[in-house]
Amino acid sequence: VPQRDYRIASIPGDGIGVDVVAEARKVLDRAAARYGFGLEWTEFDWSCERYSRTGTMMPEDGIERLSVFDAIFLGAVGFPGVPDHVSLWGLLIPVRRAFAQYVNLRPVRLLPGTSSVLKDRTAEELDMVIVRENSEGEYSELGGRHGSGHPGEFALQESVFTRVGVERIIRYAFELAGTRSGRLVSATKSNGIIHTMPFWDEIFAEVAADYPEVGAEQCHIDALAARMVQHPDRIDVVVGSNLFGDILSDLAAAITGGLGMAPSGNINPPGEYPSMFEAVHGSAPDIAGKGIANPVAQILAGAMMLEHLGEHAAARAVSGAVETALAAGEAATPDFGGHATTTESGTAIAEAVG
Ligand code: NAI
Ligand code: MG
Repeated sequence: VPQRDYRIASIPGDGIGVDVVAEARKVLDRAAARYGFGLEWTEFDWSCERYSRTGTMMPEDGIERLSVFDAIFLGAVGFPGVPDHVSLWGLLIPVRRAFAQYVNLRPVRLLPGTSSVLKDRTAEELDMVIVRENSEGEYSELGGRHGSGHPGEFALQESVFTRVGVERIIRYAFELAGTRSGRLVSATKSNGIIHTMPFWDEIFAEVAADYPEVGAEQCHIDALAARMVQHPDRIDVVVGSNLFGDILSDLAAAITGGLGMAPSGNINPPGEYPSMFEAVHGSAPDIAGKGIANPVAQILAGAMMLEHLGEHAAARAVSGAVETALAAGEAATPDFGGHATTTESGTAIAEAVG
């Protein structure tokens, strides 16, 4: 059997991104050793700190340099002193767009020991994936502000929904639902948003016709948010636009264990470009440098990366180790009601990998 080696670009970024990436690498290296493959890490210091020194978040050829890797492992970017739109549009969004990472995958599952309002549910009942459109929609640069300082001042922001963009995200979600419960719900709001959302719904119905074995349903985003809290067992795979998917996935994270537990993948489904894996949370400047950041979200993002690379057994071992270490009370950081430091949590999970 030839040795399997994967080249991974690691961008720890800012704040707690640096701490949680270090712990995640520890866990992933352990899984690699146990399952007989190699992770070859190359670290990039692209961050707000670099921006303060050089005036850019990443070098001019940054995208080109990342293009040779099998995957990208990102901490978080953003720090006080650098405006958030600079850090976001200077690194994260260019990578997502240049590498056509049009799927943002955000799985959540109830974790042992959570103090969530839904802690009495079981992990089987509360186990879902939000499939968020990641390349267009409401997050567009089209629009502007007019009449600054006048009583009639206004701001206009346009959404962009293309047939290609909507169809491919919906198709991805149908495929995924087919490998899980066979149930898919589409987040819409075609009663209030009367151009883009009916277009989204039409394409959803067209694609649904190709997947008769999947139970497809659409639901207005407000009602869906309520259902997620009241009847999470009736939800498995959710597909939503860029904005709806963003909001629903933070809600889903909050009801399963909090932001410190929620991973995500920015996926280029055809595999023409590297995909990027990160925690849903940001750089948390309020706790940066205190050694108490929860590394679980980043570690679970690592499990998603292993899954994407085809290392399914190792991926399962990592997510299993998270559950084991949390259930044993060894991995819970203060945000999760425990006393572990970032390093203690990472070490306990690495040991649970075996
Ligand atoms: P945030 O996710 O960094 O923090 C929100 C709250 O959750 C804070 O109270 C924080 O302490 C807590 N928290 C987050 N992750 C945690 C963890 N692993 N363990 C324990 N507690 C945790 O969001 P916020 O404060 O809105 O943004 C901070 C910075 O991060 C901003 O500059 C923002 O632009 C950036 N950001 C970057 C993202 C990325 O790189 N993908 C995503 C979200 C925000
Ligand atoms: Mg968000």
